[in-house]
Amino acid sequence: MQEIIEAIKESAIKIKHLIQTGDTGKSEQENSTGDTQLKLDIASDEIIEEIFKKVPSIKAIVSEEQDSIVNLNENGQYLIAYDPLDGSSLVDVNLSVGSIFGIYKNEFNAKNIIASVYVVFGPRVEMVTAIDDVKMYRLQNGEFKFIQNIVLNEKGKLNAPGSTQNCWAPFHKEMIDDIFNDGYRLRYSGGMVPDLHQILLKGGGLFSYPGTTDRPKGKLRQLFEVFPFAYVYEKANGAAIDGHKRVLEVETTHIHDTTPCFFGSKTEINRVLEVYSKHA
Ligand code: AHG
Ligand code: MN
Ligand code: MN
Repeated sequence: MQEIIEAIKESAIKIKHLIQTGDTGKSEQENSTGDTQLKLDIASDEIIEEIFKKVPSIKAIVSEEQDSIVNLNENGQYLIAYDPLDGSSLVDVNLSVGSIFGIYKNEFNAKNIIASVYVVFGPRVEMVTAIDDVKMYRLQNGEFKFIQNIVLNEKGKLNAPGSTQNCWAPFHKEMIDDIFNDGYRLRYSGGMVPDLHQILLKGGGLFSYPGTTDRPKGKLRQLFEVFPFAYVYEKANGAAIDGHKRVLEVETTHIHDTTPCFFGSKTEINRVLEVYSKHA
């Protein structure tokens, strides 16, 4: 596992440089989800793949930016699903973005996730690892220095409601309005990595990306985005659900499957469960 963390650190230093100097324009290609890929998405994907290829313990990888699984080392024991540059369309407006890594064994599905790591590229570069507990490191003078453990409070103050409001179910809108009426503050940048990182570091709250009329299964991808963050939130004393059950009990039928998702501290997640239980 340590050699995977080291590989992620190496990729983060290269991606930091790419973000600072790279072209923010579109490529001619679409990924499997149908998003037009930015040149930055493709370049960061290549950086990670090149580095992972050299790690003997990695058996196979799958990227949000590629159609299928890439086998690397027959004798490796880990599978990694990653989103090389989440929120890449925010680079041109100079907002924070991130890389997300889910580490699996045997098969790419929620039951087999055993660790996750994300990197936030903001005014600072920070890496968070969730293995037994959740640890944050910060890039300083070319090295990742341990800063703190991350543990959520039982209840927070932030609300990060995702997707397009005119596509929300009326009961979802009512729930979000009620949460604001209870004094929660809006925090939503459009990048799940900084948005979820903020909730983790400010003690708690709720991030939601529901199923909507235009996307009944939500937008966020299970293997690359939702399961890795669910693992982080659970290890940090929070929770992650699809509205009805733990995200880490959601079945995956295709590597690019999406799922509605809610991440937060326990009080907010219980509130979502209560509202959603009335709407099967
Ligand atoms: P990606 O850049 O990999 O396509 O993902 C962006 C995601 C995620 O970071 C964010 O939470 C979400 O898209 C924002 O979507 P909306 O603008 O629909 O809220
Ligand atoms: Mn993404
Ligand atoms: Mn992406």
